[in-house]
Amino acid sequence: MLIFDQGKFVPEKKATVNARNKALNYGLGCFEGIRAFWNEDKQQLFIFRVRDHYKRFENSGEIVTVFVPFTVDELIRATIKLLRINKIREDVYIRPLCINGENSIPLTLFNTSNRVFIFATPLDVGKQILKLSISSWRRNSSNAIAPQAKATGAYMNSALASSEAQLAGFDDAIFLNQDGKVVEAPTDNIFIVKNNTLFTPPISDDVLKGITRDTVIKIAEKEFGIKTIIKSLVRSQLYTADEVFITGTATGIKTVVQIDERTIGTGKEGPVTRKIKDLYNQIVRGNVPKYKFFLTPVYKKR
Ligand SMILES: Cc1ncc(COP(=O)(O)O)c(C=O)c1O
Repeated sequence: MLIFDQGKFVPEKKATVNARNKALNYGLGCFEGIRAFWNEDKQQLFIFRVRDHYKRFENSGEIVTVFVPFTVDELIRATIKLLRINKIREDVYIRPLCINGENSIPLTLFNTSNRVFIFATPLDVGKQILKLSISSWRRNSSNAIAPQAKATGAYMNSALASSEAQLAGFDDAIFLNQDGKVVEAPTDNIFIVKNNTLFTPPISDDVLKGITRDTVIKIAEKEFGIKTIIKSLVRSQLYTADEVFITGTATGIKTVVQIDERTIGTGKEGPVTRKIKDLYNQIVRGNVPKYKFFLTPVYKKR
């Protein structure tokens, strides 16, 4: 695989950093997660909401002052080229990463040498039906490392929660914030379904503004007349929900049937989750013409 490294496409083993690199030592970076879906019938690879992802990448850089030294358009062009030169004809996960490029000890963010990598990798989508636990780790707050940025160092918080949950036999965790409000899973947003309405926490509760979250809110309303109420949620609302699901680029939409020792709803995937998930899976693969505007085709039509 060739990797985009600061404007050049280089073999993977050349896309390396020095042991003294500040981003490696202190987690001074920001990143994105984007997906491209292969459509066999159309012989086309579609990147999902690539512009929205790169705008968030820029915002993340601004929040943590690891400014991305490429424009959104340059990054989109680089991503298309990356997929083409690697001849990708399968579903892949795309990882843009911007790091502080300095190789020195002082713990400051003043520098002009930020470096961007982009690589693509196949992804195992894993289990579709999940059991989650409420984490004993609280989400890093907006006044610590803002969760509205995908900042590399902040994912220590997510890794601690996921590892704790998996060691206890669950698939993943759910974070509460410092005020005890429900936030999200370590790398996914969370929704509950109650009386045919969706509820999800606001960004101000230390939530990342998920692009899948936004897609779900839009398609649920437009295609099924299901409204989303964005408001703070407490733990007990998870336990009494009709359905719970999580959303994320890597995850897609996955049903949650158990939280802690409690069964959610019927203990099976619910009808609301299923119809939103099925439509989402068709949209991302380019099978719903109405939603083509979300997609960027990689290959030129023959
Ligand atoms: C902390 C966190 N929350 C939520 C999400 C879901 O966001 P998106 O749907 O944009 O992938 C992600 C993944 O990017 C994440 O890292």
